[in-house]
Amino acid sequence: MAKPLSPQTMTIVKSTAPALQQHGVEITTRMYQRLFVDPEIKALFDMAAHESGAQPKRLAAAILAFAQNVDKLDVLKPAIERICARHVETHIKSEHYPAVANALLPAIRDILGDVASDEILQAWGEAYWFLADILINREAELYRAEAA
Ligand code: HEM
Repeated sequence: MAKPLSPQTMTIVKSTAPALQQHGVEITTRMYQRLFVDPEIKALFDMAAHESGAQPKRLAAAILAFAQNVDKLDVLKPAIERICARHVETHIKSEHYPAVANALLPAIRDILGDVASDEILQAWGEAYWFLADILINREAELYRAEAA
């Protein structure tokens, strides 16, 4: 189980919601540019959905919903279920998660510039891994159920 986020981290993450609302798709588009430098990671994605712009939009919406509801995760349960089902369909494993962290956090800085202070990036780093742990654990359950 993921260690709960501190109230301070949750406050910082929530405070970034307006910036994410405004720049979310720019951030995720930049994130994918960074992510797809690795051909093995790129091969996991459906490039048609990517080029249509659907993927960056879906990811930006998920990140924004997470920022807005970080202190009431029940609201996110249906979205988490949908994401995990899609991840299992596309064979995403726990070892893929660091690549997304390493692409997303610098992408936030690339787009928001100095607004994304070290404190904000630190909070987002913790929040990313908090959400990633939830997804990884649920996906592990789904893989076990599939194997059984
Ligand atoms: C906290 C981390 C992550 C979040 C919040 C997230 C979020 C999402 C969302 C919202 C979708 C769309 C689901 C739908 O179809 O409605 C999705 C799909 C997908 N995600 Fe993730 N994801 C995360 C981590 C990862 C990682 C680590 C990988 C692999 C490197 C990955 C690869 C994919 C792929 C391949 C799809 C399917 C995209 C397609 O339709 O081609 N995701 N994810």
